[in-house]
Amino acid sequence: MFFELNEEQLAVQAAAREFAQKELKPGVIERDAKGLYPKEEVRKMAELGFMGMMASPEYGGGGMDTLSYVLAMEEISKVDSSCSVIMSVNNSLVCWGLETYGTEEQKAKYLPRLASGEWIGAFCLSEPEAGSDATSQRTTAVDMGDHYLLNGTKNWITNGGTSRLHLVIAQTHPEAGHRGINAFIVETDWNGVAIGAKEDKLGIRASDTHTIMYTDVKVPKENRIGDDGFGFKFAMKTLNGGRIGIAAQALGIAGGAYELALEYSKQREAFGKPISKHQAIAFKLADMATEIEAAKLMVYRSAWLKDQGMDYDTASAMAKLYASEVAMRHTVEAVQIHGGYGYVKEYHVERLMRDAKITQIYEGTSEIQRIVISRAILQGQLYLPIFGGALEQKA
Ligand code: CAA
Repeated sequence: MFFELNEEQLAVQAAAREFAQKELKPGVIERDAKGLYPKEEVRKMAELGFMGMMASPEYGGGGMDTLSYVLAMEEISKVDSSCSVIMSVNNSLVCWGLETYGTEEQKAKYLPRLASGEWIGAFCLSEPEAGSDATSQRTTAVDMGDHYLLNGTKNWITNGGTSRLHLVIAQTHPEAGHRGINAFIVETDWNGVAIGAKEDKLGIRASDTHTIMYTDVKVPKENRIGDDGFGFKFAMKTLNGGRIGIAAQALGIAGGAYELALEYSKQREAFGKPISKHQAIAFKLADMATEIEAAKLMVYRSAWLKDQGMDYDTASAMAKLYASEVAMRHTVEAVQIHGGYGYVKEYHVERLMRDAKITQIYEGTSEIQRIVISRAILQGQLYLPIFGGALEQKA
């Protein structure tokens, strides 16, 4: 078994770490406090190629593997998860979904702008009454011959205020359940697209989360993705990969909190010695390091499976479930290790704790991941990640 990163992966990791520490860290507290969108920071991320890392070079992307993307997500999330979620949605939902399932014309028209970061994309699945229960879409797209007429409301849309392109999931044949759902490419400057106020959130406060309203939006026929009725599968398959990105975000949040807690515990003295030398703190550090390492193996492995062209649906659900629970648990511990200092903004860990919570909610709550995993177990489809077992690709 080989666990070493290659030279390109190490270079991506180092570049992302340097960028996060030098460019993102100085303003992160203010952006979080004021809910300021990181416009300049996103521009720099685009310049460095972080907005279209996995997209093919022929469409202006970085042509990198999923593991490189995970490493960049992890380093950026150690510092600023508002920036990493903007990056994640653009990379693993929008660019990947479009490149994998779009037509040649759709890819040629839209991907270069998205992969370069000139345009930011959003993934519009959730609705006020259809979150976890994603088949209950109420947004409709009525076939009018040469176009679809789109009506409905989407909420909790990351990149909602800044995106120039939406991938919108809508009901076209309500009687057909999930087989009556389609996905559409919608440009946000078309008539009928309206953007609601920015949400005032607990964490990832600088990212722009909005409600979007579509009223009689004319969507050209050629902007439907895939065959008629493919929209639900499109959303699910795209989310399988998106969950690797969010798992990497959770891993980064946990790692960032651990690094800060370790550093603090070596400097802070109590009862005549650094608090790291007290067993109560040392054991917390041991648990943090162990569980973060376990999460890392799961997250990297799900990326690796995807890069090998193997089934990663269950592996990505497991990685997101575990990494997000680790992020929540250990950001709380990082605050505890900091004591009173952990409770104020200056020390960063309280923000990481608030940011951690969303990783248990978006791109499928922890409960949804358990549904995905348990169904795979009970249907006998679980691709068991047991070392030494045969690597099989699910049909
Ligand atoms: N991968 C591929 N196919 C899948 C799938 C998956 N993970 N999950 C379901 N499907 C397929 C099924 O195989 C089935 O296909 P067939 O009819 O051909 O057999 C079809 O989709 C319908 O599946 P189910 O019968 O299982 O549907 P369900 O309604 O019982 O449950 C669910 C589906 C798994 C619960 C799904 O609704 C789900 O994943 N919900 C969570 C939605 C979610 O993650 N939302 C996140 C919002 S996006 C976001 O957060 C982005 C952001 O801004 C950060």
